[in-house]
Amino acid sequence: MIDHALSGVPEQKVVILDFGSQYTQLIARRIREQKVYAEIVPFHKTWKEIAGEKPAAIVLSGGPSSIYEKDAPQLQTEILSLGVPVLGICYGLCALVKHFGGNIEGASRREYGRAVIEIKKKSPLFRGLKKKETVWMSHGDKVAVPPKGFEIVASSENAETAAIEHREKKIYGVQFHPEVYHTVNGQQILKNFLFEICKLTPSWTMKSFIESSVQAIRREVGDGTVLLGLSGGVDSSVTAMLLQKAIGDRLYCVFVNNGVLRKNESEKVIERFKRHMKLNLIYVDASKRFLALLKGVDDPEQKRRIIGREFINVFMKEAKKIGRFDYLAQGTLYPDVIESVSTKGPSDTIKSHHNRVPEVLKLIKSGKVIEPLKELFKDEVRELGIELGMSEELVYRHPFPGPGLAIRIIGEVTPQRIKILQEADDILVEEIKFAGLYRSLWQVFAVFLPVRSVGVMGDKRTYENVIAIRAVTSVDAMTADWAYLPEELLRRISNRIINEVRGINRVVLDISSKPPSTIEWE
Ligand code: XMP
Repeated sequence: MIDHALSGVPEQKVVILDFGSQYTQLIARRIREQKVYAEIVPFHKTWKEIAGEKPAAIVLSGGPSSIYEKDAPQLQTEILSLGVPVLGICYGLCALVKHFGGNIEGASRREYGRAVIEIKKKSPLFRGLKKKETVWMSHGDKVAVPPKGFEIVASSENAETAAIEHREKKIYGVQFHPEVYHTVNGQQILKNFLFEICKLTPSWTMKSFIESSVQAIRREVGDGTVLLGLSGGVDSSVTAMLLQKAIGDRLYCVFVNNGVLRKNESEKVIERFKRHMKLNLIYVDASKRFLALLKGVDDPEQKRRIIGREFINVFMKEAKKIGRFDYLAQGTLYPDVIESVSTKGPSDTIKSHHNRVPEVLKLIKSGKVIEPLKELFKDEVRELGIELGMSEELVYRHPFPGPGLAIRIIGEVTPQRIKILQEADDILVEEIKFAGLYRSLWQVFAVFLPVRSVGVMGDKRTYENVIAIRAVTSVDAMTADWAYLPEELLRRISNRIINEVRGINRVVLDISSKPPSTIEWE
């Protein structure tokens, strides 16, 4: 569970007990879209710990287990005596039914996909819905006999008990997943639960978050100083703006040029943050050191390790120069800190490693780390950035990996290859923006391939390298699809790169999705 000692979270919150569903995070996001704060708590926390969160309502998530299995996750049933409204989803429904004495049966086959439910009885949960609704099912177990005191309020062809209610106790359960987009009116169902049943107020906005967060930061930091590593990406930039609002120039930002940044990136960061936003910014050009260490290295993991380690070295050295600082700030987001019951994907591990290197862990233990965005999802961070007066261009920037262009240059990283890649990447992004496609893509970038092929330019034979175009759509980088780019646009990008970038005579398009490929090439 997250420590809220330093946070802008409101009093009123929904606790989502996580039984391991792949959709648990989605439940939290859907609830927050309704301007109600929601937080995920693993099912195995004691009921006292859960009660300590003072939930205004509880949602029991789905999960991959079967309720009567030996090691099936158990519901701490004492939480039901807290007297707050409860909504059980899928496995959560089964946990409720089991506790209240109903019967569950294992289905002979999993029901997975779209289904139609028929609403059998007027229920506040289904207010404003039609008699028949399309929903998304994903379950093995189903309810055979609902518990005493509960009524069936919806049925589907495959599941007679698709939804139940105990109106007096304010306990509800659905077999399907209202949080999934394919449940056409799922958002209305969640809205009904939050506002019709729980009578919550939609007060979780980024404006209110700024107010309470600024106060909390001031309380915690007092007249102390805070150090932040600024990368120029969305998360660290928003962290900087929020901290600046709270403590002004007692925030010291260190921006390290590691030599593998995008074209003109360091100039842009200095211009934007130092001149325009008046941040207390310390610029360190360590590019020579990084490039010397990367010389002759072509293994991707080794590149990552070298850059990660050197970053900490440079950063700590600068910190010592500043002298005393009381806190270290990081732009860690909520998905990095959720104690997820389901297994996490590789990108999660990458990011959490990034913010949890041993030096940082030591500081976290001593309570010296401030992570003001640790309760927020990415879309909320963007909204917060806008609220703090940042430009859309900055707030909607694509993610850029810590090891930068080093993992987009296949093989050895040399100054010449960096220059070529910077130029090609700049043209690609410029054209994508010009075509109005930047915001619809998760990431778009160029990759340098150390393969040489033959070409002709004018009357001359060339023998030069290749640039690959990578453009993907995604919601969280866990999975990604290669993006369709219009033929005319591809033609322009290819022409411009080959004509304007010396050292490139061929452009190829990457049409691989994740999985099985990854977004980055290394
Ligand atoms: P992959 O390539 O694993 O990338 O599909 C998923 C997301 O993570 C980013 N990424 C990184 N970010 N350090 C980072 O800070 C890294 O070493 C790293 N590797 C990948 C990648 O850009 C994508 O958004």
